Amino acid sequence: MADIGEDIVIAKQLLDSNGLVGIPTETVYGLAGNAFNEDAVLEIFKVKQRPSFDPLIVHAAGLDQIKSFVKEIPEQAELLVKELWPGPLTVLLKKNSEIPDLVTSGLDTVAVRVPRHPLTLSLLNSLDYPLAAPSANPFGYISPTKAIHVDQQLGDSINYILDGGDCHIGVESTIISFENDIPTILRLGGQPIERLKEMLGEVKINKHSSSQPDAPGMMKSHYAPSKKLILSSQSGSLKEYLAEEIGVLVFGQIHPEIPKFNQYVLSDIGSVDEAAKNLFSAMRELDQKSHIRIIIADAIPNTGLGNAINYILKRASAE
Ligand code: TXA
Ligand code: MG
Repeated sequence: MADIGEDIVIAKQLLDSNGLVGIPTETVYGLAGNAFNEDAVLEIFKVKQRPSFDPLIVHAAGLDQIKSFVKEIPEQAELLVKELWPGPLTVLLKKNSEIPDLVTSGLDTVAVRVPRHPLTLSLLNSLDYPLAAPSANPFGYISPTKAIHVDQQLGDSINYILDGGDCHIGVESTIISFENDIPTILRLGGQPIERLKEMLGEVKINKHSSSQPDAPGMMKSHYAPSKKLILSSQSGSLKEYLAEEIGVLVFGQIHPEIPKFNQYVLSDIGSVDEAAKNLFSAMRELDQKSHIRIIIADAIPNTGLGNAINYILKRASAE
C-alpha cells in the first residue's frame, strides 16, 4: 500500500530522488517520474509492465518549460495550445537531447501536455524538470480515475499517491500530431474534436492500429477489463448467459430484464460528459463483481466526449 495524501512537498522529495509518484490530472491519474532521468523513466516502464516500444507523455508546467526541450513548435500547434492548455490535449513535438530516447521509445517526437489540475500544476511549478507520466494502471488495463484505483493496482510498487479527488473529465487526453503541417488526431480523448475542428479547420483522424502504431494507445485491445465486454450494437443473442451474469454500462434508462445491481448508470440524463467521468470507474466495478461474466455497453452518441467514450469502448471490446 502506498501513502495517499495531498502533500506536494512529499511528492517533490520523492521525485527529486528519482522515485515515482501517482499524480492526479483532469483526465486520469498518472504514474510520474523525472522525465530527464533515465532511472526514473526505466522504473515507470517496469512498474507499469509497459513494453519499451510504447512512449510516455511528458507533463510540464507551461509552454516556456516545453520550449526548453523541444526543437520547434509549429505555428498552428502554438496557437492551439495557447488557447487550450492547461487541458486534456497532448501534442507531438520534435524533441531535443534533454529528453532521453527512452521516454519516446526512440522516436524523434515527444508527446507533451500541461495538465489542468491545481495540485499537479503546483507540483510541476515546484520542480525544475518535467514529469513523464503514463496512466497509472498496469499496461492494457482500465485507467485509474481515483487515487484508490492507483493504490489497488500499483500501491505495492510506489510510495506515494497525490490525492486530487476524482478526475473530472475521466478519459485520457486527445493526442494530436502536426507532422508535415497536417493536424492529425492519433487518439480521441478529453478535448472534444468539435473544438479542434473549429480552431484548425479540417482535422485528419488517424486511429488505425498497425504493427508500429504512432500511438500504441491505439492498439486494438486496450483499456480492457478482464471480463468480456461487448457493444450493445453487437450483442445479438445473449442466450448463453443468465440475466445475473450480465453487467451493463447504462446510458439512459436501466434495463428491466437485468438485475439492478448489475447495472452501472453512466448518465441517466444522456450527458456524454457525465458518462465520460464515470466510465472507467464503472468498468472497474463491473469487472470486479465475480458473478458477472459479460459486460454490455449501451450505445453512446458520437458527439463531444461521446467520441472518446466510443473510441475507448471499441478498444476495450476488441479480442
Ligand atoms: O490523459 C492522459 O494523456 C494521461 C494522463 C496521465 O496525462 N496519460 C496517458 O498516458 O494516457 P498513456 O501512456 O497511458 O498514453 C500515452 C499515449 C500512448 O498511446 C503512447 O503510445 C502515445 O501516447 N505516445 C507517447 N509519445 C508518443 C510519440 N512520440 N508519438 C506517438 N505516440 C506517442
Ligand atoms: Mg494508458
